[in-house]
Amino acid sequence: MRVTTLTMMHMSVFLLLVSSASASHYYGGFLTFTPKGLNPDGSLTVEILYREAYRICFPYQTWYCYSGNCGITTRSVTGQIASYSGPSYSWCQLETILIKNVPTDSPFEMREASCCWIYAPNNNAQWNLFAHIDLGTRSDTGKPNSSPVTTILPAIRVPQNCQRELKLLAHDPDADVVRCRYGILPNIECGTCYQHPDFFLDENSCTLTHFPTAITGTHVFELVLEDYPEQSIGVSHRDGTQLPRYPWTSYSQTTTSSPWQWFTSTTTSTPWQWFTSTTTSTPWQWFTSTTTSMPWLATTTISPPSNALSSIPLQFIVQVDQSVPSCADGEYLPMFQSPTPEHGKIIYAAVNYELAIKVKAAARFSTLTNIFISGPLNITKVVNANGNTAEAVIKWTPGSDGFGEHFPVCFVAESVLGSSFYNSEMRCVVIVVGHTTGEATVSCNEMTMTVEIEKASIPGLNDGFVRLKDPLCTLMSNSTHIIGTMSLNTCGTEIEEDDESIIFKNEIVSFENTSTIITRTSELNIGFSCKYPKKGKASFSFTVHKPPYVFTENGFGTFAYQFELFTDRLFNSMVDPSAYPPQVNLGEMIYMQIAATSPILNTVLYVDSCRATPYDDPNYPVFYSIIENGCIVDNTVVVYENNNTMYKFGMEAFKFIGLHERVYITCSVILCEAGNHTRCSQGCVNGTATPAPHYRRRRAAITETSSHFISQGP
Ligand SMILES: *[C@@H]1O[C@H](CO)[C@@H](O)[C@H](O)[C@H]1NC(C)=O
Ligand SMILES: *[C@@H]1O[C@H](CO)[C@@H](O)[C@H](O)[C@H]1NC(C)=O
Ligand SMILES: *[C@@H]1O[C@H](CO)[C@@H](O)[C@H](O)[C@H]1NC(C)=O
Ligand SMILES: *[C@@H]1O[C@H](CO)[C@@H](O)[C@H](O)[C@H]1NC(C)=O
Ligand SMILES: *[C@@H]1O[C@H](CO)[C@@H](O)[C@H](O)[C@H]1NC(C)=O
Ligand SMILES: *[C@@H]1O[C@H](CO)[C@@H](O)[C@H](O)[C@H]1NC(C)=O
Repeated sequence: MRVTTLTMMHMSVFLLLVSSASASHYYGGFLTFTPKGLNPDGSLTVEILYREAYRICFPYQTWYCYSGNCGITTRSVTGQIASYSGPSYSWCQLETILIKNVPTDSPFEMREASCCWIYAPNNNAQWNLFAHIDLGTRSDTGKPNSSPVTTILPAIRVPQNCQRELKLLAHDPDADVVRCRYGILPNIECGTCYQHPDFFLDENSCTLTHFPTAITGTHVFELVLEDYPEQSIGVSHRDGTQLPRYPWTSYSQTTTSSPWQWFTSTTTSTPWQWFTSTTTSTPWQWFTSTTTSMPWLATTTISPPSNALSSIPLQFIVQVDQSVPSCADGEYLPMFQSPTPEHGKIIYAAVNYELAIKVKAAARFSTLTNIFISGPLNITKVVNANGNTAEAVIKWTPGSDGFGEHFPVCFVAESVLGSSFYNSEMRCVVIVVGHTTGEATVSCNEMTMTVEIEKASIPGLNDGFVRLKDPLCTLMSNSTHIIGTMSLNTCGTEIEEDDESIIFKNEIVSFENTSTIITRTSELNIGFSCKYPKKGKASFSFTVHKPPYVFTENGFGTFAYQFELFTDRLFNSMVDPSAYPPQVNLGEMIYMQIAATSPILNTVLYVDSCRATPYDDPNYPVFYSIIENGCIVDNTVVVYENNNTMYKFGMEAFKFIGLHERVYITCSVILCEAGNHTRCSQGCVNGTATPAPHYRRRRAAITETSSHFISQGP
């Protein structure tokens, strides 16, 4: 009896927790599935992954089988993905992975339903999650379908007065077309199924746009993701049924039992038109927008009935906060900066090799507090939030279970100003886990990068079917190696930069023999890069001419810069190096030019600092600042040309006080990726670099002791 009583006490505590977790505490969720193969007994293994968010970290997540045979769960793992606590709300996102053994390949449906959503207007608090899973064999790939993969931060902030886009991740491992729509009530895909008039959901791109007409507060979104094949296919099952599956655009249902029809409008302003069914049992209303400004304003939109390969839920909230003084990214709202990967980028990773992704965000008028991440279990992040910037290093080591799978990762940066909290855009990437890498060597020089792959290290490598990022760039090979050489500008090479380096990236991918069956996933992806230090030096002296100065670091690669003297402001005739050291009258203009010896497309040359010293040592304690942190310090400096590859300037000659007759000028230059958010585009940064007054006095003193030569030789 005692034992029984104890058990019951545990039970009641448990139930209490359950009810507190379910009362107004739901923040949305989603489910995805991945077939993991056929078992010897004919059953199928499928991995079901779901993430749900609640106000507290309580794993109250139980999906049940709604229709068909959902099989039995053979393994289950639950863990915490991310959590947040801030004004208006706090949440905890949990993940469960179920490994299921399913006896047949017939479609089945899973469902979870409970109460309550966190409080939101236009929401009845009830929630439903619903997934349609079909493990039949696709006629195009010969394999069962995988659902789209996605993830999301459970709550995203937008300021009331800004039109903002939320790009939902809708990536499909089978390369199908993924569409996003609102859930519909008769399909039990949602609790309230409210379609927000002040948000527009672009069903093709899965982008949710917030218009400044929305009221502040919490907005609940109950969406459905569906995948459609690119071409008409069949999905066949062992029980003999074959379901035709059509691409989205050619879909037209004409059977009498479901009298749906929709067609494409040919006008550009309203490209889609749907119309109303008149049967009473399915009283859907299709809607047509006619306004030109917001052609998609969704007042009564309901998507056509599904003919998708799979349907999965995606539910979350958008928190509309008070207005912000400026909607521009990077002012109050944090903005992602290089080297943050672009939204939707595919990143390849190898089993048991650690992958690192760097994310950086900045805001001029608010303080960065954190970068939130929703990614696979065991992904780690180290966030360094420091004033107006925050950097996160996201690390993850895929296990062998993940081989071949696609893992989404989404991140959002948050900043604060007073009592206002601001979110950046949400960005998502997809990590594809493949084979461990083979043997490749990369060599970098000033103009080119060369990659050599040892064929023996990659079994089955077909050297006739590999190319660089640009499909026109094929590779050469000999009996042992595949060799690719490209200039830093060609073959689809991309430029990235971080604080220290400028990085040129390309990749070797395999392509298909077009006369065989199309398989759309690439079997080979070897990324390679050349890393060059961004900061170089160009030196020049009045007395000693030097050949181009080459600055090397880490042995990755180098760029050279030239620093030359010209006779006049037209920069037509260079002072002949054999005539060095030049003689200059004090107070006379000297004309100097700095150039990168191998100008690279999409990069910008930036002269950060120039210093004059009496000896050939830029760190000599006696120096005179000409340019410091991009700010012109010497008031005789005239800049004649400052473009991406060349910096031409002049200044009045001077001499150091004392007996130093020679003047050496050393400039530090930076090469940046072209764009608005680099050190190069910032220009003069007025910080600690303001010249100390005694340098100015020294300059004045020099000017006064006029008519001396800086000279050497005759
Ligand atoms: C996460 O890490 C733990 C401990 O390091 C490990 O036992 C578990 O298998 C990992 N989970 C996944 C999904 O990799
Ligand atoms: C193939 O090319 C690589 C790289 O250039 C070279 O190291 C190797 O010796 C070559 N092999 C043969 C058999 O020529
Ligand atoms: C491409 O595939 C076709 C048909 O399978 C085959 O005849 C042809 O030889 C293949 N081409 C190459 C270059 O392998
Ligand atoms: C920069 O200026 C130089 C000299 O005027 C010119 O030759 C070069 O084409 C310019 N480069 C760009 C990118 O405008
Ligand atoms: C830089 O910003 C301007 C205006 O903000 C914009 O027009 C331009 O396209 C941007 N350039 C790049 C390379 O992002
Ligand atoms: C830099 O700071 C000084 C002193 O604080 C100021 O006089 C000058 O105008 C500033 N220059 C720029 C370009 O902001």
